[in-house]
Formats: sequence, C-alpha cells, structure tokens
Amino acid sequence: MKNNPIGIFDSGLGGLTAVREIQKIMPQEDIVYFGDTGRVPYGSKSREAINKYARQDARFLKKMGVKIIVAACGTVSSVAPDLSDELGLPYTGVVNPTCFTACQLTKNGRIGVIGTAATINSHSYKRRIQEKHPEFEVLEQHCQLFVSFVENGLVDPDDELVRLMVKRYMAPFKESGVDVIILGCTHFPLLADAIRREMGGGVTLIDSGKETAIYTKKILEEAGLLRDDDHIGEANYYVSDTPADFEKFAGLFLTASPKNRVEHINIEEY
Ligand code: DGL
Repeated sequence: MKNNPIGIFDSGLGGLTAVREIQKIMPQEDIVYFGDTGRVPYGSKSREAINKYARQDARFLKKMGVKIIVAACGTVSSVAPDLSDELGLPYTGVVNPTCFTACQLTKNGRIGVIGTAATINSHSYKRRIQEKHPEFEVLEQHCQLFVSFVENGLVDPDDELVRLMVKRYMAPFKESGVDVIILGCTHFPLLADAIRREMGGGVTLIDSGKETAIYTKKILEEAGLLRDDDHIGEANYYVSDTPADFEKFAGLFLTASPKNRVEHINIEEY
C-alpha cells in the first residue's frame, strides 16, 4: 500500500496547486490526478451535482489503486461529505488544514475568506474557524469569476482585466482590517500576485493547495503510508474533456510539463 500513488482531484486545474506542493515536500510519491475539465466550474453548481461529481471523481481514483484521496477543491470540501468511510480509504479536503494555518497566523483575529459561490454560501471556512475561535471575525466574499480566469490562463497581475476583476472582488476587504485572507479555492493561488498587489504587503495570503499538501503528508506519516524508498515520483493526469487544453495551461501551475501524461476518461462511468 505504501508504494501506491496519492490520488488528487479537482474540477479542473486548481488542484494542481496541491500537486505542485506535494511534489516539493514528497518527491518520492507517485500521483494520480483527475481534473473534471468537462464539468468545471463546480462552484456555481447545486449541492446535488457537487455531491455526485465528488463521488464519481473519488471512485475513479480508488479504481486507480490510490492509497489516499485528496479532494483538492474548496467547493467539494465545503459541500460534499467526508468520503473516507464510504471509500474505505484515508480522505482529506482543504478546509480544515487551511483554517488551522489561518488561525495560527492572524494577529488581530480578523480573517478574510474568498472561495467559489458554493463554498461561500456553505460558510464552511467561517464555521470551522469559529468552532475553534468564536472570538475571531470572519469576512467572506465569493469570487466565482476567478475560476474562469484561471482556467483560461488569465492570471498576469499586469493584465488590465485581471487587475479590474481583483480590485472589484477585493473591495469589501480593503477597509476591513483583515490581516489574513484564505484563498479558499485551489484555483486562487494563481492569482496571488494580483491579490497581493491590490491588498498590499500587510495581508498574509493562505494557499489552500499548499496547506492541504502539508496535511496530506501528516496523514500518510501517521498511517505509516509515506513512501520511504528513493523512488522518483511520477504524476499521471486524467481529464474529462480534451487533454490538449489541460496540457496547455497546466504548465502555469507545475514545474514539470504534463505533456504526454494526460489522458481522457469518461467520468460518467464511475
Ligand atoms: N478549485 C475548486 C475549488 O477549490 C473549484 C472551482 C470551481 O470549479 O468552481 O473550489
């Protein structure tokens, strides 16, 4: 089991922010990634649809023989239940590890959360933070358009459209005094430079992909499932739409190009 791959899924490219960090901190691990590019975005879909997609994505990864499933998607982590019992596998989402770090880093107890519409409507991050720290103030803002921009490779902070979009979505945080902002959707770290430029250096941005990678390592260590040989990890990618588009933009997220490692699957079969 130790030598089996780590399974990661998202609606599209966003979960690659977790892949990148996993490759940094666990280079010996193989990865199987599923990006549901045929059905992205998840964040504007109903609870029923998101639940169905999450189950199908996880079932596909289970079939690929993974040792853990990472829902590298803020929307799935906020709306769908924890599937570990159902799958008989360790399973994690992004909300808990991200909230943990945000609570540690805030100095004034004012935390901003941005995510997809479904994530913000679920108040998942706010609830988790206030469960542990009822005294903290949490300001939420959905930024659903960010997902489309990132899926289309529009992330350059010098791009006028990117600048205007970020300015508009960040406006409620400007005078709020938040000192930490959770990037509660795994697509959003790609817009971190643009958000930082708008918010200034006094605000710490928390990358949900990165925090989830760190947490995944902890789960594997505790379960005795961390690979400990000198294997050089490989990643294989599966998508529900054309591999070409995924290959084109995945390079924005990853250090190594996924070229010739992306395959199409029919997710409706799972
Ligand atoms: N990357 C996902 C998330 O973290 C999903 C974005 C979407 O498909 O709307 O929420």
